Amino acid sequence: MPRRDIMAEPYKIKSVETIRMTTPEYRQRAIAEAGYNTFLLKSEDVYIDLLTDSGTNAMSDMQWSALMHGDEAYAGARSFFRLEKAVQEIYGYKHMVPTHQGRGAENLLSTILIRPGHYVPQNMYFTTTRAHQERNGGTFVDVIIDEAHDSQAEHPFKGNVDLKKLEETINRVGPQNIPYVNVALTVNMAGGQPVSMQNLRDVRKICDKYGLRLMYDATRAVENAFFIQEREEGYAGKPIREIFKEMMSYSDGCTMSGKKDLLVNIGGFLAMNDDDIFAQAKELVVVFEGMPSYGGLAGRDMEAMAQGCYEMVDDHYIAHRIYQVRYLGEQLIKNDVPIVRPVGGHAVFLDARRFLPHIDQDQFPSQALAAALYEDSGVRSMERGIVSAGRNKRGENNHPKLELVRLTIPRRVYTDRHMDVVADSVIDLYQKRNSLAGLKMVYEPPTLRFFTARFERLP
Ligand code: F0G
Repeated sequence: MPRRDIMAEPYKIKSVETIRMTTPEYRQRAIAEAGYNTFLLKSEDVYIDLLTDSGTNAMSDMQWSALMHGDEAYAGARSFFRLEKAVQEIYGYKHMVPTHQGRGAENLLSTILIRPGHYVPQNMYFTTTRAHQERNGGTFVDVIIDEAHDSQAEHPFKGNVDLKKLEETINRVGPQNIPYVNVALTVNMAGGQPVSMQNLRDVRKICDKYGLRLMYDATRAVENAFFIQEREEGYAGKPIREIFKEMMSYSDGCTMSGKKDLLVNIGGFLAMNDDDIFAQAKELVVVFEGMPSYGGLAGRDMEAMAQGCYEMVDDHYIAHRIYQVRYLGEQLIKNDVPIVRPVGGHAVFLDARRFLPHIDQDQFPSQALAAALYEDSGVRSMERGIVSAGRNKRGENNHPKLELVRLTIPRRVYTDRHMDVVADSVIDLYQKRNSLAGLKMVYEPPTLRFFTARFERLP
């Protein structure tokens, strides 16, 4: 694509939302009151919000007008059929059950397929995905390539499944104890790293050899498709829409958080080809979400998601999306700030181990760094390290190799100028990194602790 085609945002702005910078004193008070947890800040107190790319997207004029076409019938709504058609056309799956968001789909899939004693091999964990697997008695097994656990290892497809690890796992636990193999596209916790088409084909082959299902977490699969177009032989110049469909064709279904790729603020779905799983999902969705024709969503939400299905595979849109993330990452690299390499699809991840080597992992360096960044510039980021990793079955802290702070870029919301502000603040902080101190956890909830845990700053 010619450079000029994607130098600027491929949209113009029709409606704006005012944001304001606060004073340093104000922010010091705000983050202390939030227990040094950026999840507990008020959004009003945030200048640039890079907490997540989930549900924070700007919808298009087409999506806003699609809302008015929402059919709010309790059953058989037209909007459901529009979404079903869009998923069939773009993803290529036979069946789709809407859910209120990604974890609703994870709940359905895990409840239907996982039994106590089961194992789910996956390319690194995601918090809610693993929580649902464990709630149903399953054990997550990490089968991602080793490079993914090393923030500095350069690999074009750092989210790839390690085929040897996968086969060893299958032989160790027995294929009868594996309800499905789960592949995430891209891998959020590894830094938004993609999986290659060749790897997907190879995983499919292994699944076929042992008679296993292959399910995707397709949450950011369009971003994955872009990396295939950019990096994998044979895909340069191929439309994203085609690459995307080929990726999906190797799987039996997917869980999906519409709050990412689908450019909406709420929604998700579970899709599959299998008629039996579809029948069970339709029964269960009524218990957890709502009728199979709305799954916890309003008709208008399904309309916006359906429209998002077509917008997300636009080649210009996705190229700019990835380049904006990279634009931020490259400014940091130029200034020697340690980040996860290469820059992934949805976020730039600061490597807190290297940023703050003087803070022990048990003093939550990523949490401390996220709090310091907020104090410095009102930029909100998210811890993705020891706090997010939670505790193991024996109640001990998991100690993940990756100790990261995620600067997550919402889709179509901020301009490259906002990225400059973020880079400026991170670079300043890096220069005074030795003055930053660790934290002590003073409140810990029993599950998904990163959302609500509270901390105090160590002297
Ligand atoms: N899978 C992945 C890879 C995710 O990143 C998320 C959500 C989910 C599943 C669950 O989807 O939130 O719609 O229920 N990730 C958000 C984030 C929360 O900030 O990364 P959900």
